[in-house]
Amino acid sequence: MEYLVQMKGMTMKFAGVTALEKVDFDLRPGEVHVLLGENGAGKSTLVKILSGINHPTEGEMTIGGKPFTSLTPNMSKENGIAIIYQELSVIDELSIAENLYVGKLPTKRVLGIPQVDYTTMYAKARELMDRMGIHRKPETLVQDLSISEKQMVEIAKALAVNARILIMDEPTSSLSVEETDNLFKIIRQLKQDGIGIIYISHKLKEIKQIGDRVTVLKDGKYMGTVDVETVEVEDLVPMMVGRKVQERFLRTTPIEQNPEVVFSVKNLTRRDRKARDISFDVYRGEILGLAGLIGAGRSETMEGIFGVQPISSGEVYLHGKKLHITDPYSALKQGIAFVTENRRETGFFQNFEIWKEISVTTNLKKSTAGGFTGFTNEKEEREQAEVYSKKLRTKCSSIDQMTVNLSGGNQQKVIVSKWLAVDSDVFIFDEPTKGIDVGAKSEIYQIMRDMVDAGKGVIMVTSDMAELLGVCDRIIVFSNGQITAEFMNADATEEKVLYAAVAAY
Ligand SMILES: Nc1ncnc2c1ncn2[C@@H]1O[C@H](COP(=O)(O)OP(=O)(O)OP(=O)(O)O)[C@@H](O)[C@H]1O
Ligand SMILES: [Mg+2]
Repeated sequence: MEYLVQMKGMTMKFAGVTALEKVDFDLRPGEVHVLLGENGAGKSTLVKILSGINHPTEGEMTIGGKPFTSLTPNMSKENGIAIIYQELSVIDELSIAENLYVGKLPTKRVLGIPQVDYTTMYAKARELMDRMGIHRKPETLVQDLSISEKQMVEIAKALAVNARILIMDEPTSSLSVEETDNLFKIIRQLKQDGIGIIYISHKLKEIKQIGDRVTVLKDGKYMGTVDVETVEVEDLVPMMVGRKVQERFLRTTPIEQNPEVVFSVKNLTRRDRKARDISFDVYRGEILGLAGLIGAGRSETMEGIFGVQPISSGEVYLHGKKLHITDPYSALKQGIAFVTENRRETGFFQNFEIWKEISVTTNLKKSTAGGFTGFTNEKEEREQAEVYSKKLRTKCSSIDQMTVNLSGGNQQKVIVSKWLAVDSDVFIFDEPTKGIDVGAKSEIYQIMRDMVDAGKGVIMVTSDMAELLGVCDRIIVFSNGQITAEFMNADATEEKVLYAAVAAY
């Protein structure tokens, strides 16, 4: 059997942390090999050995049959490896074609002077873009593309250098259902061309949709490799988290006849009109889910409520009392908490330890002048950090570790923790479980349940259908800046929700 990659006994130690311990992994041409594991299991660490960023402490590997003990980024590229990170590396200010050929622009000589050969470059770019289904002009600036299109450009870039081994680390976490389907189409095509793909995702449904084999890691250890065909996804969960995980968190008792309204939004329109005439109530005892395509107006509405973006009209009521929100600080002071999307960009302080990070929001809420004034209590703050790190199983050496050194998903857990810890009346969660493993997801859902049972209002914006239907008691669908449908959970189906989500375009 021919292998694109073979890794044996890979061990990777960082100061104080063994991120990988004797892990075996291989990749065949034309297959999608899924890497599965909890946050901090070592998935990104393993693929970063292949991309030349991590230099393993121990272990051997062959790439295309050639033996190596360690790679540099250049060696990685030369041996046909390309990695698509979540933080995309395309350059916004350049055109698609320039991005594809950056560093190796085709040149021609005019009167003896070398110049970029745009005709050749655009023609070559066109060919690649057609192969990827990017329906844009090669001269389009990358900044004008959607996240999904940028990702396509990133993949095209890998094809431009004839990569044989493609690594995708959580590629669909910011993609809509449609965009994900499109990506899968492309992956299938790449497989036919004999390219091997290493695929990391926390969306278990995707394993059956796109995977050929799965390797499970747990705490840096190799748990085994199985053929996707021969395994049920539910059986993989105990392998990765060491226990069964509950998936449904709906109310077990019916909501009462005339439930108390905790929170209301009336006729909210954003000044930029990205959300228009939005009205809804949040009832006591329910988790309200907001569904829709990316950009449909859900986050946009939440930003309007929380005072992040200006609104031209609209009112917000808490327990029937009108709130006066001028900015996020005043929203927080009046009892609203908002776990924003894009937490990695806006979410945390690079130089804070976990416990300080988790205290930030609580202290801000306590403060009087919008700054870090007033008394703080280190002992309490540490206790609080311990509680939430345990609840969400945040993988860290201690709460004194720097947040920035945690794995992607564990950073998310810390950021979600600092909002869970705030004493608020209404909690808005915008894609709270993005990048978070199945085990911790269920902990977050359970905390939401506890919150609504305690009389808090809970709103969850989610693009994850399993989460929407498995957790939200009532669902409101946004489409093109408006609300197009509302369902009780029992009446909602994936088809109905998707239909309503495209209704206003
Ligand atoms: N540069 C580093 N310094 C110290 N520790 C690190 C470093 N990089 C990773 N680690 C640690 O190695 C372990 C594995 O991290 P890794 O990023 O591989 O996890 P992951 O499986 O990709 O998780 P996630 O699903 O959250 O992305 C974690 O405990 C992490 O804290
Ligand atoms: Mg990772």
